[in-house]
Parts: sequence; structure tokens; C-alpha cells
Amino acid sequence: MAVHRREVLIGGGAVALAMAGATLAGLHGMGSMAEYDAVVGASRRALGKHPGLRDILRFATLAPNGHNTQPWRFRVASDRIEMAPDFMRRTPVVDPDDHHIFVSLGCAAENLCLAAAAGGYVADMGWTGRTDGSIAFPIRSGTPRDSTLFQAIAHRQSTRGPYDAKPMQVSELNLLASAARTTGVDLVLITQREGIDQVRDLVVAGNTAQMNDRAFRRELLHWLRFNARDAIHAGDGMFSAGSGAAAVPSWAGPFLFEQFITAQSENKHYASYLDSSSGVAIFVGAHADPRHWVQVGRACQRFALQATALGLKCAFINQPVEVASLRPELASLVGAKGYRPDIVMRFGRGPALPFSARRATATLLA
Ligand SMILES: Cc1cc2nc3c(=O)[nH]c(=O)nc-3n(C[C@H](O)[C@H](O)[C@H](O)COP(=O)(O)O)c2cc1C
Repeated sequence: MAVHRREVLIGGGAVALAMAGATLAGLHGMGSMAEYDAVVGASRRALGKHPGLRDILRFATLAPNGHNTQPWRFRVASDRIEMAPDFMRRTPVVDPDDHHIFVSLGCAAENLCLAAAAGGYVADMGWTGRTDGSIAFPIRSGTPRDSTLFQAIAHRQSTRGPYDAKPMQVSELNLLASAARTTGVDLVLITQREGIDQVRDLVVAGNTAQMNDRAFRRELLHWLRFNARDAIHAGDGMFSAGSGAAAVPSWAGPFLFEQFITAQSENKHYASYLDSSSGVAIFVGAHADPRHWVQVGRACQRFALQATALGLKCAFINQPVEVASLRPELASLVGAKGYRPDIVMRFGRGPALPFSARRATATLLA
């Protein structure tokens, strides 16, 4: 069984302990996958015929976001939605300059615009002008415009498992590249094994630095959910089952994490995940500022939705951009010397895993 930094798969010698824990904890109310699937399924239900703006928000929040903190707040009026960063949900160790917060907002902005169009609205993205970097969407009514990308929103997930390593067709790569085309963002697709190997080595170097950093581990642990009950209750964070791991009691999770999740164990799995991927996508914004980070989010979300529509899976592997000292080497690798690479994703074909949870939209309104 795999062990993964953002997933806490309980692996190796920990399996027996985890299984014993899981059996014990069944008696202690860890919740069931059936309950979890019902809650998560409700957050992903269809849009309906005449959706209101709050229904549109639900689709915005299905966007990927760092550590699943869901760092957003919304204001809704009859002709306008505003989305603001929620700095109470910062992850200062892994994301000291709030880069990931703005990329996450960009992913949500893309979902919001696609869902608004499907629901019979026109939502154009702009800025509120406030200094917190919040985003404004003036809304007017229009003709409902369904799209392949909209249909993919509820099915997209960060699939943190092995893929089948088979090469992509050129037509698939072209569709991915054209879906992701966004002003101010370059996308580099690496599909040659030698290039993927170079990215793998950077991921492993970054993971080693992070997993040996106590502050990083503490922050990560704070956002991990070890069983269905905790994942449902929090509505945020990363649930171990989302990576195919056994659930364990809340009290045992931190102990198992500290004992068995090491740089070495994680590196082994990252290497195999990269080796099983068909390609890697690297997104580079024209400037390193919040507005460009939002654009990067829009681009990578369109990429992920197109991948989902093609039956592909993808997952973020951001260690080489999170560990600042590795950025120059990654930039050189993709021919973007002097720029800050923003996002790294791997993609390929593989089995789906349980979806991640979201907080109820009613709790996100300012
Ligand atoms: C800006 C950003 C950075 C992320 N970095 C990582 C990462 O380095 N490793 C990882 O496993 N997931 C990463 N993720 C994925 C999130 O953990 C994931 O989106 C979140 O847990 C919700 O799950 P979902 O994407 O399946 O809906 C990142 C997501 C975003 C938007």
C-alpha cells in the first residue's frame, strides 16, 4: 500500500497497525464510507433547471485548492458575486506568499464562470479593486450554455494513485493544450520519459526537504482527516481514503503519521507515481503576482477539466515550486529561465478514488 505526503496512506509496517486500529475504531464511530459518499455526492449533485446564484457557488467550490482548505468567501447580490481570499485559511509554511490561495481562487473562478453559463447567466471575471485581491463577477442573464468542461466539474478529482504509464495520443495532448490556453500563462507539456524523470527527481528533492521540516509536517497534519466521520464533520482537509488508504481513529492518525510517514517512504511512492504517469504539465505565469496566479488557476483548472472529459486523471505534484530553491532548475527545464514556475501536474489513465469533501456553501457567505 502506498504512502503519500498529502494523503497519509498508511503503508509498510504500519498496515497491520492501521488495520487493527480500523477494526477497533469501527466500535468508536469513525463513520462509514456510505455516509461519506452520500455527503460528498450531495455537494456534487446536478445543477438543476433554473439554478440560483448560490447553486452556481456550489460548483465554484468543487475546484481544487491547496490542502483542501477552501480559502474563499463569497458575497452574493442579484447581479453580482464577489469571491474573496479567506486568509484565515492560509498555510504559511507550504505557501508563505499566498500563491496557492490565489491559484485556488483562479480554479474556483473558472468553475464559477462555466457553471454560470450552464445555468443561463453570463459571468465575466473582474476585480473588486479592494486590496485583498478579491474577484468580482458581474452577472446578467443569458441563454444557458452547457459545455464539456462544465460537465466535467463534478467528476474531476486530484487522483493520487498510480496511472498506467501509456502514452497519450497527439489529439488528446492538443485538446489539453488548447483548453488550457489563457492570457498571461504558458503551459509546457512533458511527455518524453527523460523529461518526466527530471521532474520526478525535482519532486523527490522537494519532498525530502518538506518531509524533514517539522513545521511543514505540523501544518500538513493539521489538514489531514483520518476517517469518514472527521472528514464529514470538517468538510475540508485531505481524507486518507481519497488516496485509497484505510481509515483509522482520530487519535491514532497523528501517531501513525509521525511514526511511518517519512521522506524515504514518500519518495518511493512519488517516484512510482511519476514513473506511471503519461506526462507532466507545468504552468508558468508571465509575472509573479496575485492577478497572474489567478490566471494560472484558471488555466490549470481548464486543463484538469479537459483531462477529466477525456477520461484522464491528474494530480498536483508541486514540491518543485513550493521549495523555492528548486524553482530555477524547474524553470530551466521548461525553457522559462528567469520566471517562477507556478504549478506542476502529472496526468495519465488510472482508477478513480473517493472524492474530497466541501463545506456547505451557506457557511461561505460573508
Ligand atoms: C494551488 C494548489 C496546490 C496544490 N498542491 C498540491 C500538492 O503539491 N500535492 C498534492 O497532492 N495536491 C496538491 N493540490 C491538490 C489539493 O490538495 C486538492 O485540490 C484538494 O485536496 C481537493 O481535492 P480535489 O482536487 O480532489 O477536489 C493542490 C491544489 C492547488 C489548487
